[in-house]
This record gives sequence, structure tokens and C-alpha cells, in this order.
Amino acid sequence: MESLIIKGGVPLHGEVTISGAKNAVLPLMAATLLTAEPCTIRRVPNLSDVRFMGQILTWLGAKVEFDGDTVRIEARKIRGAGDYDLVRKMRGSICIMGPLLGRLKKATVSLPGGCIIGARPINLHLKGFAALGAKLKVENGYVEASAKRLVGAEMFLGGRAGSTVLGTANVMMAATLAEGITVIESAACEPEVVDLANFLNAMGAKIVGAGSPTLTITGVKELHGAEHEVIPDRIEAATYAIAAAATDGEVLLRGARPDHLHAVLDKLRDAGVKIERKGPDLLVRRNGRLKPVDITTLTYSGFPTDVQAQMMALMVLTPGISIITERIFESRFMHVSELARLGADIEIEGPSAIIKGGKPLSGAPVMASDLRASAALVIAGLAATGATQINRVYHLDRGYENMDSKLRGLGARVERIEEA
Ligand code: EPU
Repeated sequence: MESLIIKGGVPLHGEVTISGAKNAVLPLMAATLLTAEPCTIRRVPNLSDVRFMGQILTWLGAKVEFDGDTVRIEARKIRGAGDYDLVRKMRGSICIMGPLLGRLKKATVSLPGGCIIGARPINLHLKGFAALGAKLKVENGYVEASAKRLVGAEMFLGGRAGSTVLGTANVMMAATLAEGITVIESAACEPEVVDLANFLNAMGAKIVGAGSPTLTITGVKELHGAEHEVIPDRIEAATYAIAAAATDGEVLLRGARPDHLHAVLDKLRDAGVKIERKGPDLLVRRNGRLKPVDITTLTYSGFPTDVQAQMMALMVLTPGISIITERIFESRFMHVSELARLGADIEIEGPSAIIKGGKPLSGAPVMASDLRASAALVIAGLAATGATQINRVYHLDRGYENMDSKLRGLGARVERIEEA
């Protein structure tokens, strides 16, 4: 296993190009299962999650060819069921279920189960499939959805924490090939859902309302091949923006799509960070002392849960008290105890973390526990004095393309080593 060694205290300076969005590309790749014709997806980030999704599609019978940042997928003949438990290994791969059900009217996947950030049920995905007429069966750790025909329906897909991103994606994909009209109320409004709807429409689907809580899908008989460019990764952009602020640096985020980042940029400005829009790019630099801000994670267009840990690292460096409340995932505070090893003073009170910021951070060995928690440790390590060793760096490789070399490009002292 590999680790990162970060020698902190160097302000980040320069430019970084934002990669394609992980959370957009996974459902886009799954969507290619809806047609027998070839599809081409561009600006695909080189991530282990993406390669893993490629393996799943290959297993299902699709031809998957990566060429630089392009993937070409042809799902001429596919199987919808079988003895595979790949889904359990990567939660995001649950989104193959909607396309399989849409195209083959049958899908069997292993139940994804919980993960380190919370329980992660799929009841809302299944509610949507059932509304389209699928029969559901859970047996031996597998969930099977099957239908003679899928018929459009009206449904409400809001849950305990609001809308569901992959649930919306899954049901939307199945509904593209259902008979008649499907209306999804309380649909997720995330840019990744809009990106998927755009791709599906390019494939011949009829979806209106993407980006709003009401999605209307008029079923069609079949979809055809299409080409698509993935949107930039708003979470990656937010991570580098926070890293620039945390190190008192100045970074130009190339192709950051500021229109996807309103909530994050608003909070960063409140925290005293200067942000200038330069066309599709963003210039981020610290504007004097940092100020504490309170944050509550919400569904889009609220503050994203995927930036909560990174923002906590920034608040740890900010003199004063800030409160961060996590409303999407119940146990997404694994970074708190690791940040404490670097000197952070954070108390957890139910869904909130109370951060007494401004204490000096010094490097220490820490353990990455999930993708965004790891990003928070990188940010804290960049700002700490001395060396921070982040173990289990494979978590970062799941979702950040070339993070260590991008950081080195900004002047950071980061090295990747094989764990002893
Ligand atoms: N939920 C249910 N029932 C369901 C589905 C979800 O109760 O059937 C609940 C969840 O337990 C959670 C909330 O709804 O409390 C939101 O979960 P959602 O379904 O929106 O999450 P997801 O679609 O499984 C995607 C991203 C996550 C990101 C969340 C929220 C992908 C591959 N994953 O997950 O990304 O945190 O949306 O924005 O798109 C990450 O990138 O680090 C990551 C975890």
C-alpha cells in the first residue's frame, strides 16, 4: 500500500486544471448499457473508481476501451444478472441497475450495504423501480428487479435526507425505456444528474426538468449511441480552492465551472477568501485573516457533503469557533480523530462538529478512511508544520486524478512512497 508524505507550510501557487467529475462519469458509463450502439465519453478522469466501473461493464459483456481521457463503450450484447458481487466493492456501481432494468427488464446486483460514511440504503432506488412496475426480490444478499414491461408512473423519491443522487439517476435511466410518461418528484438537482440527463437526451431519450425537483421522462422504444464530455469535478475544484486558502496561496482553477460552486464559494468568501471569476476559471487567494463560518450540508444547491471534511480542515486553521453540521450522511466525521492527531480541537455533538480553530498544526502519521476525509487530511498536512504521512492513499486515488502531481505542480512538497 502507498502513502503520501507531505512537508507542510508551503503556500500553493500556480494553476491547476480541473478533471472530469467522478460522480458524473460513473452513471454516464452505466448509461451506455441502455443502447447496443457505441458511445464515446470524453474528459474521463483517470481514477480507480472509473477503471472499476469499466471492469463491471466488461463483466456484463460490454466492450470498454480507454484511450487517454476518452472511453468508448459498446454494449452490443449484455447480461443483466449473474454471480457477481462487484457492486458491493464500489457503492457508485449500483447505478448499473437502472440501465439493466430498462434495457433487459431484469437486473440482479449484490446489495451494496453500508460504508464508512453511513448506512447508505437503496430503498428509494427500489421504490422508483417498483413504481415503474418492477417486481423486487431480495435474496442471499442480492436484489433482483424484473418486469414484463416497464410503465411510466408518477413517484416521489424524497427520503430522510431529501433527494437521492444515484437513486434519481437509476430510476431516470430505467424510465427512458418505459412505456409512457414518468414524473419523478423530489428528484436530485445535482449537476451530475443534469449531465446524465443531457447524455441520455443525446442518446434519444426525452427528459425535461433536469436540475429541478421535477423530472419528466417520456419513454422511447430504444436509445442510440452518442458522444459526451463530462462536466468538471466541482468537488475537486472546491478541494483545491480550500487548499489554496488553507496555505495562504494563490491558485487559478482552470475550467472550474463556478456556476456549480455557488454554496462553496459563498462560504469561502464569508471565511475571508478572495475569489475572482475569470471566464470558466476561478482565481482563489486568501484575503488576510480567515474568519470562522458555520456550515450545514444539504442537497444541491446547498453546501455539498462531499466538501464538508475539506472545509473542516480549513476551519481548524481559522481562529475562533465554527460549527459544521452534517445532514446527508450520519457518520461522516471519520476525519475528526485524524485531524486531532495534527493538533485540531474538534468536538462532536450529534450531527455537528464544533471546531475551536486557530491552534497550530504539526505533521503526524494519519490514516485515510474515505475519499473526502483523505482530502481533508491532505489540506491539513499542507498547512501544518513538519511532515504528515497519510496512509492508505488508495482512497484518494478513487476520486482525485493525479492529486500528488497536481499538488507538486502548485509547489507543494508531496511524495508518494510504498508503506513499510
Ligand atoms: N438515501 C436513502 N435511501 C436511498 C438512497 C439514499 O435513504 O435509497 C439517503 C442516504 O442514506 C443519504 C441521502 O439519502 O442519507 C443521500 O444519499 P444519495 O443517494 O444522494 O447518495 P449517493 O447517490 O449514493 C452520491 C455520491 C456521493 C455523494 C452523495 C451526496 C456518487 C457515486 N456518489 O452518492 O459521493 O456524497 O451522492 O451528494 O455519485 C464521494 O464522492 O465521496 C461520495 C460519497
